[in-house]
Amino acid sequence: MKTPILLIVDDEKPTRDALRMALQDDYEVYCAANLTQAKSILAEEPVDLVLTDLRLGGENGMDLLTYTKEIDPSPACIVMTAYGSVNTAVEAMRLGAFHFVTKPLNLDEVEMLLQRALHTKRLETTNKELKEKLDSQSGLSNILGKSKEIERIFTTIKQVAPTKTTILIEGESGTGKELVAHAIHTLSGRPENKFVAVNCAALSPQLLESELFGHEKGSFTGANQRRIGRFEQADGGTLFLDEIGEIDPSTQVKLLRALAEKTIERVGSNTPIKVDVRIITATNKSLQKLVYEDKFREDLYFRLNVVEIQMPPLRHRKEDIIILAAAFLKEFAHENGKTINRLADDAMQAIADYHWPGNVRELRTAIEHGVVMSNGQEVKLEHLPHKIRSKDKPAHPHLEPKSINTTHSEEIKLVLENDLNLSSLEQRAIQLALHKTQGNKTEAAKLLGISRRTLQRKLLHPDVLS
Ligand SMILES: Nc1ncnc2c1ncn2[C@@H]1O[C@H](COP(=O)(O)OP(=O)(O)OP(=O)(O)O)[C@@H](O)[C@H]1O
Ligand SMILES: [Mg+2]
Repeated sequence: MKTPILLIVDDEKPTRDALRMALQDDYEVYCAANLTQAKSILAEEPVDLVLTDLRLGGENGMDLLTYTKEIDPSPACIVMTAYGSVNTAVEAMRLGAFHFVTKPLNLDEVEMLLQRALHTKRLETTNKELKEKLDSQSGLSNILGKSKEIERIFTTIKQVAPTKTTILIEGESGTGKELVAHAIHTLSGRPENKFVAVNCAALSPQLLESELFGHEKGSFTGANQRRIGRFEQADGGTLFLDEIGEIDPSTQVKLLRALAEKTIERVGSNTPIKVDVRIITATNKSLQKLVYEDKFREDLYFRLNVVEIQMPPLRHRKEDIIILAAAFLKEFAHENGKTINRLADDAMQAIADYHWPGNVRELRTAIEHGVVMSNGQEVKLEHLPHKIRSKDKPAHPHLEPKSINTTHSEEIKLVLENDLNLSSLEQRAIQLALHKTQGNKTEAAKLLGISRRTLQRKLLHPDVLS
């Protein structure tokens, strides 16, 4: 094992020399007399252990503790305190010191503590490496976040991935649905097989059908070649159908059959072809609502929705915003060859306050914008896109596009806080819908998920609730 590197920080030369003498057989020892020297050594050398006095002339050794925590991997710190003051020692431990020793020093005690610190640090590193390895094997390492909402998603992913269950992922745009679909595939136990994605909204009904199932030569105008569809391409792997809510009724029927019989037929052929495909679908609409509106087959809905994963909007997991922002900052700084390493406090605040209608995708773009606009060490508020700075909030926060994941208690709180009853909420929804559709009642009714007649009735009798 390589010799561990130890940094001794003390403003008194005799102490530094004595410690160096005692420890240089077991450690590669560096010495610093003040904070500046200590920081420059820490910046240059991969220091494993720091042994620092807390009183460094006029400087405070605590500052060094805080500084070491910003280094990755951080060295383990042992602080020396001349006073034997419990308070100072406790404060040092709170700031992340591994332990403390009181002066005058007992060299045996120092050596024993250094050994213990080193041992603990090695264990921590091994643990971290193992975890990272596991996460990268499992495809989870790309999904960042520490909120309980995202932890719940991790648990579900791990649970369902090894099975062949069909999965429906619902969530607003930019919440990470495709990322989750990928992770499930990677963890599926057959990641060497293909992950094939189809955006169902991007193609006309006829093209979508031939995209999914393939076609025989001459089966329709323009079909000059036989074409293998996505189902066949994904055989043995995963087929990801994005924006599943957009598929037309006739393709819905075909999809239902493919799922039920595990066979497909190319367009223009009657020969069934066996396919073994795991289906993951995603939508930013509520599929159930589409079923109520008769736009989506209920039987297909049940087939697709064996397990449902709801992606929470970013504004409901604020603690993830900062984690994601930091990661994107690092990524884009690297990509653009800049040395930016932090977000200014006001920029951080604006990011935390903003409501992120475009979720993680929007955050990613905003940080990229900030990195590109900044020439210094940090991204300042002025570097962020205007709409984030201007603190735009949705006109009616309680009427923002209904996130599928809003918890009931949150909604109830909203109602109580705003002193809104059901009837006035409904009126506001109607007003908003009419405003959005510039007074077009048919469109407004669609938006509200009710018939035009019901809307008409509600407009005439605003207090009727049904
Ligand atoms: N938890 C996360 N950690 C890191 N990056 C994320 C996370 N969630 C989303 N992203 C990133 O945000 C962007 C949008 O994610 P993705 O395409 O998976 O969203 P989506 O829900 O499929 O959006 P849409 O509905 O618009 O298709 C991608 O660049 C993705 O890598
Ligand atoms: Mg997507």
